[in-house]
Amino acid sequence: MSVTRRGFLSRLGAPGGAALDATVDGRLIAARGLEAESAEAWQQAGGRRGGPPAAPREGQPPSIRISSNENPIGPGQAVLDAIVAQFGEAGRYPFNAKVGDRKLVETIAALHKVKPENVLLGAGSQEILKTAVWGFTSPARHLVTASPTFENATGTARRMGHPVVEIKVDSQFRLDLEGMLTTVRGAGLVFVNNPNNPTATVHSAKTITDFVERVRRISPDTVILIDEAYHEYVTDPAYETAIPLAMATPNVFVARTFSKAYGMAGMRIGYAIGGGDTIKPLARLGMPYNISVLGVAAAIAALGDPKHMEAERTRNTEVRNFTQKALEDLGCKCTASQANFLFVEVGRTAAEFRSGCAAQGVQVGRDFPPFEGSHARISLGTMAEMQKATAVFRDVLRPANGTGGGGREEAPC
Ligand SMILES: Cc1ncc(COP(=O)(O)O)c(C=O)c1O
Repeated sequence: MSVTRRGFLSRLGAPGGAALDATVDGRLIAARGLEAESAEAWQQAGGRRGGPPAAPREGQPPSIRISSNENPIGPGQAVLDAIVAQFGEAGRYPFNAKVGDRKLVETIAALHKVKPENVLLGAGSQEILKTAVWGFTSPARHLVTASPTFENATGTARRMGHPVVEIKVDSQFRLDLEGMLTTVRGAGLVFVNNPNNPTATVHSAKTITDFVERVRRISPDTVILIDEAYHEYVTDPAYETAIPLAMATPNVFVARTFSKAYGMAGMRIGYAIGGGDTIKPLARLGMPYNISVLGVAAAIAALGDPKHMEAERTRNTEVRNFTQKALEDLGCKCTASQANFLFVEVGRTAAEFRSGCAAQGVQVGRDFPPFEGSHARISLGTMAEMQKATAVFRDVLRPANGTGGGGREEAPC
């Protein structure tokens, strides 16, 4: 059965099927939830980090939600059709459905040329990250991670009372792998986010391979988790997935997600790939039946539509170039982004920038210590959204004398 986006949403009761079709002139650009990690970090910090963006409410002004690194256009038509076609199986457990989770595992395995036992599904890749911390760190075996980076692993280890060593990113805002190497001896887990959220930078395949080899020499029992949540958005030819490296190296595995380029953050599906012995402990710690039957169908359809992914990568690159140029024209330095967000020196606190943008209906990212005094993370929406958002940035970043808005000298930030 084929269904249009509008028809699909009407079926689900969205008024007029408007949610996915809404432009920035409409009410809210919907189909995007909050970045789960953001909410988690916020809870963890006792709500002190500026919090996750407020959920939109009836009667609020239009909002451009570029705060959670989501795909602004959501999944493609093939995915929406697959979800609808699977509705009838909603009464079944995933292992018992006509298109079951085993089929998704086999599809992922075939895509990456590995065996099904090398694939583990998670309720988003956060389940994978969390179980990795549970399984591999302990009060005696620390977590090595970066700062700033995606904080799920950090927060999980802290809540368990397991030691965490955070190494600040280098002067180019890349993971400081040399610095991390000095702390890996005896570690339970090393978390490597490539590209790194929130700094958007990437390390080459060669650099990652060298790092892994050196960790293995220093501390062979340490597990290395390479989180490639933004893999599909990378355009740097020196970058490659670490999946073949993980398959060839004990104690190394890769995490991937359908939440970003696949546009399925609300479906909650991620996966780990690595040697069977490496990922087995995670399987024991995960929730049983953690993947929904609709999510399974959606993910299989998404993997079967590589053209849509290619179009999404091209769309994101165009929007990235446009937004980066607009910010640089305002005098704001951006890190070398290889993802669907920018890390931008806004010349004021992230909180100040965020509240200025929020007052004009644009939600940007939360605080990212230790750069919360100078940098903001801006996720990339659609081109139309970013044209409007950059006009708001120009206004918010205008110097106090009010003469700015026209170029580097006039609007330094
Ligand atoms: C680097 C990184 N890893 C993992 C995730 C978690 O994604 P999910 O649990 O939605 O798969 C995110 C989400 O923002 C992320 O930025």
